[in-house]
Amino acid sequence: MSTPEDVRRKDLTMIHGYPMVYAFALNWERIEEFQSKPDDLVITTYPKSGTTWLSEIVDMVLNDGNVEKCKRDVITSKVPMLELSVPGQSISGVELLKTTPSPRIIKTHLPIDLLPKSFWENNCKMIYMARNAKDVSVSYYHFDLMNNLHPLPGTWKEYLQKFLAGNVPYGSWFNHVKTWWEKKKGYPLLFLYYEDMKQNPKEEIKKIASFLGKTLDEEILDRIIHHTSFEMMKDNPLVNYTHLSTAVMDHSKSPFMRKGVVGDWKNYFTVAQNEEFDAIFKKEMSDTSLKFCTDI
Ligand code: PPS
Repeated sequence: MSTPEDVRRKDLTMIHGYPMVYAFALNWERIEEFQSKPDDLVITTYPKSGTTWLSEIVDMVLNDGNVEKCKRDVITSKVPMLELSVPGQSISGVELLKTTPSPRIIKTHLPIDLLPKSFWENNCKMIYMARNAKDVSVSYYHFDLMNNLHPLPGTWKEYLQKFLAGNVPYGSWFNHVKTWWEKKKGYPLLFLYYEDMKQNPKEEIKKIASFLGKTLDEEILDRIIHHTSFEMMKDNPLVNYTHLSTAVMDHSKSPFMRKGVVGDWKNYFTVAQNEEFDAIFKKEMSDTSLKFCTDI
């Protein structure tokens, strides 16, 4: 296999019980055998939960708000995605990470069970960002329209059923958020919410800075907020994913930087879909103390 066309719109592959993007599932040993370094910082999220936003914020924090330094490269190189691999494209996470200078920031969407053991052995710091499931489902639906590595989503109605059943890349949102939330007990993991970052970015960025051992003054915090606002990132070709081949992401179907708001689900969910969603949510989340906000 040598081009993205070879993996276009393929069905998902099961990896240890989790549905995985076909292209990423090839040579899975590379993930299992991945060797972390003690100073690696892992950015972990369920897809469409604000990973790119968090990645740029973390890079800004680590570079003391220096915008020029943060423009040194595209986001997929600054923050390689561990499991990403596309035939014929030089964006494979494992390959890029071989030459990424330390301390490395590593993005992943892997469920806890699939994360390489080496990260736990090295006690690597991790930041998890969670986003409410209703907005995630809408964002993921649009992503599946434009991401040729994923199966087509079908209609919104069909897609929502697949999402609720966990029949999407990385599996169930419920399992993902609940298990990562549990993990933070007794582990250096900072758990953040997309909705909090929208509502009060300064407080959330201070939490990140403190977690990374940094103290940033007001001017730097304001600069980070400005540089990482949706409006700025939408027009920044280094972070808006327009640098990828259209064979991988076709922004004419739906842009990667789509809306960046809380509550867009209301434009898609019917009353019946909302009721069904709430009932499943209540059942699935009955055994966790996690709380989500779907409107601000
Ligand atoms: S991915 O492909 O899973 O890594 O996508 P991810 O980056 O996690 O999520 C993409 C959604 O995040 C929105 N986004 C932002 N929201 C607010 N502020 C900023 N700066 C920002 N950057 C990206 C992006 O628009 C996607 O959400 P939707 O709801 O589709 O707009």
